[in-house]
Amino acid sequence: MLLVVRLPMRRISFDEYQLVIKITREEDIVLARQMVKNLASEAGFSLVDVTKIATVVSELSRNIFHYAGSGLILARLRDEGEKILEIVAYDEGPGIENLSAVLRGGYSTTPRSFGLGLSGVKKLMDDFEIESEKGKGTIVRVEKRQRRF
Ligand SMILES: Nc1ncnc2c1ncn2[C@@H]1O[C@H](COP(=O)(O)OP(=O)(O)OP(=O)(O)O)[C@@H](O)[C@H]1O
Ligand SMILES: [Mg+2]
Repeated sequence: MLLVVRLPMRRISFDEYQLVIKITREEDIVLARQMVKNLASEAGFSLVDVTKIATVVSELSRNIFHYAGSGLILARLRDEGEKILEIVAYDEGPGIENLSAVLRGGYSTTPRSFGLGLSGVKKLMDDFEIESEKGKGTIVRVEKRQRRF
C-alpha cells in the first residue's frame, strides 16, 4: 500500500538509525547507495529488492545533492515478525514547490530531466511518506518489507 502523509519533522530521531550518511559531495551518492545496499543484502533481501533499494537510495541522495546541496540518508532494519528496511532522506533545503505534480511523475525543475525520481521511488517501495515545506526542507521516508518465498 502506498501512503502519502505529512509527518512532523521532529518525529525523526537520528540516533535510532543504524546508518547515517551525510550527503555533501557527489561521491556520497554512490557511498550511500553501497552502504544501504549492503545492509539490505546482509539482512537477506532478494536480489530484486536489493536492486530496487539501491535505486531508491540513489534517487533520494541525488535529489538531496542537487536540490538541497546537503542532507542525510538514514537507514535501519526493523524486525516486526517480518524484516522491514526503512530509509529516510532528510534535508533542510528549499522544499518542493509542486509536490502533487512531482508525485504524479513527469514534472521536473531541471531542464532535460524526466522528473521520474520520486514517483519511481514511490512505486519501488511498499510504503512512502513525504513532507516538504517551502524554505524548510524535505523528508522522504520509505519502507521495504522482506518477501518470503
Ligand atoms: N530534496 C529536494 N529538495 C527540493 N526539491 C526537490 C527535492 N527532491 C526533488 N525536488 C524537486 O522535485 C522535482 C522532481 O524530483 P524527481 O526526483 O522526481 O525528478 P528530477 O530530480 O527532476 O529528475 P530525475 O528523473 O532525474 O530524478 C525536482 O525537479 C525538484 O524540483
Ligand atoms: Mg531526482
